[in-house]
Amino acid sequence: MPRNRLLQDLRGKAGAITVMTERVDDEFLAAAGQGLVIVANFGVGYDHIDVPACTRRGVMVSNTPDVLTEATADLTWALLLATARRVGEGERFLRSRAAWVWEPDFMLGMDVYGKVLGVVGFGRIGRAVARRARGFGMTILYHARARATAEVERDLGAGYRELDDLLAEADFVTLHTDLSLETRHLIDADRLARMKRTAVLVNASRGPVVDEAALVDALRGGRILAAGLDVFEQEPEIDPELLQLENAVITPHVGSATVEARLAMALLAAENLIAALEGRRPPTIINPEVWERRQSQ
Ligand code: DGY
Repeated sequence: MPRNRLLQDLRGKAGAITVMTERVDDEFLAAAGQGLVIVANFGVGYDHIDVPACTRRGVMVSNTPDVLTEATADLTWALLLATARRVGEGERFLRSRAAWVWEPDFMLGMDVYGKVLGVVGFGRIGRAVARRARGFGMTILYHARARATAEVERDLGAGYRELDDLLAEADFVTLHTDLSLETRHLIDADRLARMKRTAVLVNASRGPVVDEAALVDALRGGRILAAGLDVFEQEPEIDPELLQLENAVITPHVGSATVEARLAMALLAAENLIAALEGRRPPTIINPEVWERRQSQ
């Protein structure tokens, strides 16, 4: 829906279901007016929503955690494996109808089994990715703002590292942070330079967590081996140079794009919306202080 039309149609509405391509800011909130009770986001990430502005105006905000965790972890692994084993490149090669015969050193990739996985951001999705790594006999390292409990570390067999140490040790670095001022360009040229030359970077979180221009340089110059990316800095635009690189595996922001996950996301967004409109606490509210304030009024 074009923005103008959306702003027009929002007038007087009590609830809105949003997706990540729509900014929920002062303009959006002003267009809806005083009667807006909830913005129910269809998605777990909510960097497109100005939550403090919603809170100031007494608007509840909810998201859809949990229901997309496993789908997103699966996609992360699809990127990791496709990158290590040059699946995209092999596909393109065959479809180009180039002549080929089996040869001992043809299209060599790198082993995944037994390698070191570095998970940056150790929330639900990061942990689900780590859990899968156990089946691949990997050493699991993680970095997060807050260290996980000893029990979680033990269950997942994961060891905490400072970010720079993780980058230096990991063969595969996978990003699962949210996008905030703190995490924008978390992986920049300096951090890429800390990674092994043989390392692979996977990003299925938010594009701006990586400095895309620096990544393109690193991939082109062989500073790191390869990257698997589901998200980009200026979606839906993609750096034209990235499109040319054989050592980048790219997918169009499909981390949660399974029938099961998207249906569950839709249901959870609707449940949040309906709960708020019926005066109940939305099950996955992000700013519970608004709910509490409303209860005490
Ligand atoms: C999410 O849920 O945050 C996905 O990236 C889709 O928006």
